[in-house]
Amino acid sequence: MISVMSAVVLSDAFFEGLNSSATGLDRAETLPPACYTNADFYDFEKEALFNHEWLCVGRESWVKEPGDYFTTRIIGEPIVVTRTRQNEIKAMSSVCQHRGMLVAEGRGNVRGLLCPYHHWIYSLSGELINAPAMERTCDFDKKSIRLPSFKVEIWLGFIFINFDPAAPPLAPRLTSVANAAEPYDIANAEGPPSTSGSFPWNWKVMFENNNDGYHANKLHRGPLHDFVPSELASFPDFAPGDAGFLRYNGTTHPGASFNPTQKTVLPPFPKLTEADRHRMVFANVPPTLSMVLGNDLIIFFILRATGPETMEQDTGLLVAPGAMEDPSFEHRFAMINTSAMQIISQDMHVDGLVQVGLRSRFAPRGRYSWQEGAQGQFNHWLVRRYQDAWRRMSAKTRTSSLTAAE
Ligand code: FES
Ligand SMILES: [Fe+2]
Repeated sequence: MISVMSAVVLSDAFFEGLNSSATGLDRAETLPPACYTNADFYDFEKEALFNHEWLCVGRESWVKEPGDYFTTRIIGEPIVVTRTRQNEIKAMSSVCQHRGMLVAEGRGNVRGLLCPYHHWIYSLSGELINAPAMERTCDFDKKSIRLPSFKVEIWLGFIFINFDPAAPPLAPRLTSVANAAEPYDIANAEGPPSTSGSFPWNWKVMFENNNDGYHANKLHRGPLHDFVPSELASFPDFAPGDAGFLRYNGTTHPGASFNPTQKTVLPPFPKLTEADRHRMVFANVPPTLSMVLGNDLIIFFILRATGPETMEQDTGLLVAPGAMEDPSFEHRFAMINTSAMQIISQDMHVDGLVQVGLRSRFAPRGRYSWQEGAQGQFNHWLVRRYQDAWRRMSAKTRTSSLTAAE
């Protein structure tokens, strides 16, 4: 049964009310708190965003060799990504088409995907190739069974999937982010294994924190972050068709890096321009990928919504090609990693308490500072999709009630 709160949320008036979040930043207000807490809104959001947008699931380097695979989950869907013998990257549902066991867990290298329950075997592209003791089963055609597969696109070494077989390609809609990221040569950057965690907050709370220039020298005040002050934030224009957006944040000295020396301790990315040396880039490809591009380190976050008030995240670090071969790499990297993790833990403390605040009856629709330009861009990206989906879904409901009345 739909709750009173949900009936209020999922209404024409609610979706019209989102206009005030997608106007000029000087007049805009934040999204309604229900967008971060309400279970029916989350279900709506799955259709409005996650079922049709490109979702980052990992790095190409996570499946370097034929037979390599990794697993992940987003909006509750278990996914396996493989590299086939033909060197193609494939992404599929990992749900066995016999009785629903998952055919893969974790990461590894295999010849095929063997379901541990009754030993059905799928190829690395998902075709069912063996199903023991099924010869007495009527009309059982092994060839007609496969793991449901998803569209795949590789962008700057990141693997994106799309649940929508009709989704248009991603890269042509990411040119402004790709241009800003070009000097960092992200496709060839290398890094140690990523780490993952589960968190008790809505995915947008964290996405917005990663977007936010306003808190830079407030929440993170101190020697690890003061050289990236909020007043040096700028926000390049974002076109309505763009699939991503970014913030440049100037630094008070060139060659800055998040570590106690405040300067690069690893080899800088080789193609940085003079302008790049004086700034950091915070780039976003909603709803899953957020990146911080620094002079000697890229931090990336893959956000995976798991519920209205929960998410998982993979956190990865990338450095310039060859940097990891330096004998002192481990020690230098530890300097940055310790600092980055301290900054990230300050952010996470806030994320947890913002979620508590958003759940309160006193949660606001607040106003923005000019230093929150990327929140405005995120809101435009979201509201357009929310309103389009609501119109689509309402039209469908009207059509089916008309058909029922005939
Ligand atoms: S559930 Fe996979 S083989 Fe039975
Ligand atoms: Fe932060």
